Amino acid sequence: MESLVLKEKGYLEVDVDPTLDLFAEISKLKKEKNAIVLAHYYQDADIQDIADYIGDSLGLSQEAAKTNADIIVFAGVHFMAETAKILSPQKKVLLPDLRAGCSLADSCPADRFEEFIKQHPDHVVISYVNCSAEVKALTDIVVTSSNAEKIVNSVPKDKKIIFAPDKNLGAYIIKKTGRQMVLWNGTCMVHEIFSLEKIIKIKEKNLGAKLIAHPECDNSILEQADFIGSTTALLNFTIKSPDKEFIVATETGILHQMEKASPDKIFIPAPPTNNCACNDCPHMKLNTLEKLYVCLKYEQPEIIMPVELMNKARKSITRMLELSN
Ligand code: 13P
Ligand code: SF4
Repeated sequence: MESLVLKEKGYLEVDVDPTLDLFAEISKLKKEKNAIVLAHYYQDADIQDIADYIGDSLGLSQEAAKTNADIIVFAGVHFMAETAKILSPQKKVLLPDLRAGCSLADSCPADRFEEFIKQHPDHVVISYVNCSAEVKALTDIVVTSSNAEKIVNSVPKDKKIIFAPDKNLGAYIIKKTGRQMVLWNGTCMVHEIFSLEKIIKIKEKNLGAKLIAHPECDNSILEQADFIGSTTALLNFTIKSPDKEFIVATETGILHQMEKASPDKIFIPAPPTNNCACNDCPHMKLNTLEKLYVCLKYEQPEIIMPVELMNKARKSITRMLELSN
């Protein structure tokens, strides 16, 4: 099958019978192969519906660390599948489309980051999980949007901190903790694009609608938000809140679980500055149900990494998991 992986395509190109019931086929393959599907909230609704576990970056890495499955199909982006492989190196980790990257991870090449660290000696290096394994290998502690505040607070007050690669999350954590941190200048292409002007107009039309935002958003959006949190925190907020209407400033995939959990409530995706569908993450959306089926059937594309790199990167991820308990 190797020849079917078109290197420039990043996924197996196989003709799939259009009459196949992909849900039934994927369920059958999962049982036969002792495989699980881990999906991020930003995946398409049908991928979320076939997943064994849906979660945010922290939940997904915790799940990858503890699963007894032989195969993990990671329905998310490359750095997430890499993290799963690093935590479960003996397991086969598959990603339906290898091109599913991340603008934050891309903003922080390891060689430039290494230079940055040298320019700021004696700093504790904290990296958001949205970075490459090479960057994690240069990092002391990895964080996600769920635990960044707690982990930054755990660093002794006399220690200086580098925070990479998301400058918006970094600025938000500086505000929350009062800690000064040196920030890498990266952003998420989805979360930086929301239009405050359009959000305010929606609020004026929908009086009482609450703005909920992911901390990867720009400060101007966060300042107006009624609630800020990771994707799991945003979902839980909408479930517990007595409010009925929410403007959701994060990737649109999360609306599927919000609508499922609270069918009586209204969820409005926060609009981007232009008329594109920029609040759909183009990387996350490269995965499709068909690619997931083909990838599980032929067990490709697989995440393969040098053992030495995995061993180096594991330390900062394990530290995060310990500090998250
Ligand atoms: P969380 O999963 O931590 O909410 O982060 C969102 C994100 O942008 C993942 O790429
Ligand atoms: Fe990366 Fe942003 Fe896409 Fe998440 S939503 S994978 S941070 S580009």
